[in-house]
Amino acid sequence: MPSIVAINASPRPTWNTATLVKDAAQGAEEAGATVQYFDLYKLDPFMGCRSCFACKRGKTAGRCAYPDGLTPVLDAIREADGVIIGTPNYLGGVSAGLYALIERLVFQNLTYQTDPRWYHAPATPTLFIMTSNAPDGAYQKGGFYADMLQSKLLVLTNAIGPMRPFVCGSTLQVTDYSHYNWTMFDGEQRHRRHEKVFPLQREQVAEMGAELVTDPWK
Ligand SMILES: Cc1cc2nc3c(=O)[nH]c(=O)nc-3n(C[C@H](O)[C@H](O)[C@H](O)COP(=O)(O)O)c2cc1C
Repeated sequence: MPSIVAINASPRPTWNTATLVKDAAQGAEEAGATVQYFDLYKLDPFMGCRSCFACKRGKTAGRCAYPDGLTPVLDAIREADGVIIGTPNYLGGVSAGLYALIERLVFQNLTYQTDPRWYHAPATPTLFIMTSNAPDGAYQKGGFYADMLQSKLLVLTNAIGPMRPFVCGSTLQVTDYSHYNWTMFDGEQRHRRHEKVFPLQREQVAEMGAELVTDPWK
């Protein structure tokens, strides 16, 4: 039975990102996989790379040896047949928690040799979900987040394997916009989109999650 690791890298365990990660995970489960689900912000404390270089020598070459909250996630990804990662766009990038995971994932795999460059061939198909205030169009060719998204996909491709992105823009950020003095957003419009478009996006990621199992991309 294929095993899938699903990671919610939003600090909010029940909002947009988590919902889509859970839907994709459910799609994978219904297609016959077992799923291990992690809320990154509920793990024991962790940090990014400590620059100890244990991953570059001896018995721990190719693996992050620093024991903390990320260790079970790194171990699970190593064994997985497919990965689902969801993150909110934070300040034009990924959440700090995911950035710490990316540092640990990528650096452990770099040999620091000219050949081979990587300890393990990164071949695990991964669904990368990003949610954001900015609209979907911002991530399309020429959009102001297009290059950022491509650079995140590239770095994760080298760490885990081939990526497929799913962007969910113009998300509902709070339940009641009238409690905040946020002149940038139209709360009613966000609610309408959340009721009409978000359910369709949930179905789309569930299909992508199933595809991770039935027709994994290379
Ligand atoms: C700290 C912080 C920084 C954010 N920065 C951006 C940003 O740069 N661009 C953007 O489009 N949305 C930004 N957002 C909005 C979130 O990406 C968006 O609301 C997302 O869907 C939240 O995910 P969640 O509902 O799963 O927590 C930011 C939100 C927070 C809290």
